[in-house]
Amino acid sequence: MDDAVRLDSLTKTYGSGEGAVSALRELSLSFPRGGFTAIMGPSGSGKSTLLQCAAGLDRPTSGRVLINGQDLSGLDETRLTELRRDVTGFIFQSFNLLPSLTAEQNVALPMRLAGRKPPRGAVRQALAQVGLEKKAGSRPSQLSGGQQQRVAIARALVSRPAVLFGDEPTGALDLSTGRELLATLRALAGPASADSGDGPVTTTVVIVTHDPNVAAYADRVVFLADGRLVGELLQPTAEAVATRMTYLAVSQ
Ligand SMILES: Nc1ncnc2c1ncn2[C@@H]1O[C@H](COP(=O)(O)OP(=O)(O)O)[C@@H](O)[C@H]1O
Ligand SMILES: [Mg+2]
Repeated sequence: MDDAVRLDSLTKTYGSGEGAVSALRELSLSFPRGGFTAIMGPSGSGKSTLLQCAAGLDRPTSGRVLINGQDLSGLDETRLTELRRDVTGFIFQSFNLLPSLTAEQNVALPMRLAGRKPPRGAVRQALAQVGLEKKAGSRPSQLSGGQQQRVAIARALVSRPAVLFGDEPTGALDLSTGRELLATLRALAGPASADSGDGPVTTTVVIVTHDPNVAAYADRVVFLADGRLVGELLQPTAEAVATRMTYLAVSQ
């Protein structure tokens, strides 16, 4: 099995002594290449912590994170920064766009900040991937919430990352806008289309959500409770996810 990300006995403890909080407890989990996985669980179950450790934004207390087979614990801060720039993409509930920049400039910004000129056409291509090729010159205030989040996705895609992580990426969107965004994410997961330029990249998508309707767009849902993996559903329906969540809430 080809895994884009492997989490191996991941433990994350915040603080120490009396006030220590165990956010993840020896959690092992893999995200297969090209898959679209949703992570669910009650509030405080460790979803955001898991995503941040998996994306190299935070370091686990113990255990290993492997991305494309590479163990992140062996990387110093410089290499980790490069990995976040080149191998992973991250989108948040808030879009974090700069209001004074156009969509195109926002998408190009991370590369420019890294002192690199975005490859010719890469920015346009990323915008096209999220259906915004006609909005390249628009500023965030001229775009709807869903369009702003798609600019944020394009910004995460411009480096052609192997894995795209999203923490409640539809949390700030209304239902129909959220659905459009999910269809975009689902279309992104899997092998790149043939016309995508410099060689195929198979994108793996991993999102956190608390909404069963959102999770139903994924091809797999994993459930966390109290920092542990407690279940999994393949080809989930919203009903099956909702039932499982109710059970988790009761059994806590
Ligand atoms: N920076 C932090 N410092 C201390 N405790 C934290 C921190 N971040 C998260 N926690 C705690 O870790 C646990 C898991 O949090 P989190 O990963 O945010 O859960 P979720 O995203 O599922 O709501 C919670 O008990 C939370 O209060
Ligand atoms: Mg969270």
